[in-house]
Amino acid sequence: MEKAGFPLVKPRFSSFPKITFDVDELHLEEIKSLPWKHPITEWRELGIKHLEIKRGIGRHPVIFIEIGNHNYVIKELGYDVALREVNNYKQMLGKGIHTLIPVGCVAREEAPLQVSTQVGEQYERNIAGHTVTLLVDRVLPDSQLYRRAFTFENRKRIWDAIVDLFVEMHSNGVYWGDASLYNTLIKFIKLDVPFIGKKTQLKAILADAETVEVRYTLSDSMRYADVNFFFESMEWINEDLRSEGILRDEFSTEMDKVYVRENYERLYEVAQRSKAFEQTSSLNMKQVLGTVREAVYLDTLQKHIEEHKWYLSEQKRSEIRFSDASQDWLSNIFIPMCELFKAEGVVDVFPGKTASDLYVEIMTHKYYLSQKKQSDVGMILAMRNYAKQFGTKKPPRGFWQRVSRKMLKILGVREQLLLNVRFNTEV
Ligand SMILES: Nc1ncnc2c1ncn2[C@@H]1O[C@H](COP(=O)(O)OP(=O)(O)O)[C@@H](O)[C@H]1O
Ligand SMILES: [Mg+2]
Repeated sequence: MEKAGFPLVKPRFSSFPKITFDVDELHLEEIKSLPWKHPITEWRELGIKHLEIKRGIGRHPVIFIEIGNHNYVIKELGYDVALREVNNYKQMLGKGIHTLIPVGCVAREEAPLQVSTQVGEQYERNIAGHTVTLLVDRVLPDSQLYRRAFTFENRKRIWDAIVDLFVEMHSNGVYWGDASLYNTLIKFIKLDVPFIGKKTQLKAILADAETVEVRYTLSDSMRYADVNFFFESMEWINEDLRSEGILRDEFSTEMDKVYVRENYERLYEVAQRSKAFEQTSSLNMKQVLGTVREAVYLDTLQKHIEEHKWYLSEQKRSEIRFSDASQDWLSNIFIPMCELFKAEGVVDVFPGKTASDLYVEIMTHKYYLSQKKQSDVGMILAMRNYAKQFGTKKPPRGFWQRVSRKMLKILGVREQLLLNVRFNTEV
């Protein structure tokens, strides 16, 4: 009688290794030209051009190579994990989080492994996976980050970048699970945001997303787990520096941890409030304020748009919605003002500030002055007073009159009325 059940399938060994590419179309040709039938650790001998880059401490073989017009980083790891990692990068980039840019995943399947089990001989698939990413260049090397006698002031800038990354991730429901300086690349990035302008900023980039979980929401305990794990990793760095005999103070101290924790808590709260504000206003806060770092800016902006809403409702003789007022303010006031600040060179009077920084600071100054004077002073007077106090360069004669005239065109009747009131009472 015939036996029931499946027979033991003996694979055809001649067809191995089998290579599968799940790679971005743009890079497919270059990636396919690599010697995937061999483990990546053998590629140097096969003549593939390697870049001499020091990698952070980790578990897997990683190579940095140049092929065609691109520099790639290839990490060998389990196939399932590699697929998950590439997918994690894609999802995080979609949420605007600064991570590595994935090129794809490549599988090398070797002949199955024959294993003896209690139920007889079995074949197990034997697949190596590879995460391929674009090389992030001009990363600040470890030697600069930790080895130099870095003052607390210098370290703070690194912690600020790390805190920004944590806030970016956590407020988007992303849990890292392997947060450490070894899995973070730090570099200066030029940000060019519409209406905000160019800004150079120290940025932390998430490198190593095997353990990342992209969730809908993230519990407080998971957020704290990430931060606490990062604190632990600060200890490893101290250990490494000690064991390498680098004689200097610890890279991170209790004071650093307190700094990271306090800033993280504060900026996470601001990010949550910023998100809530985005919902009621339908404004993209990144576009308006860059990354909001102070809750007080949200309060002030709320008040500012309330005023605009009141003004529009008066004009229309009917109550308009906060989100409509916000959109109207964005396109008819904020954007034209920022463009004016750039075109007329107002930004040059305040080196280091973008047009949007200026708008927000003048707006904040307006509320400060108005409170002191017990009545609205308007944006133009606020700007003149702000420039008197904080401007670092003296513009040519007639500069402020010209800028004020142009501002008046944007701000309209209401601002004119405020100016008239001041003119009549104060001059
Ligand atoms: N695209 C990249 N650009 C620059 N450096 C990278 C890139 N990918 C990885 N690295 C470096 O290689 C190290 C090892 O990669 P990682 O994914 O962390 O591997 P492991 O799983 O072994 O920890 C990272 O810590 C980082 O220093
Ligand atoms: Mg790692």
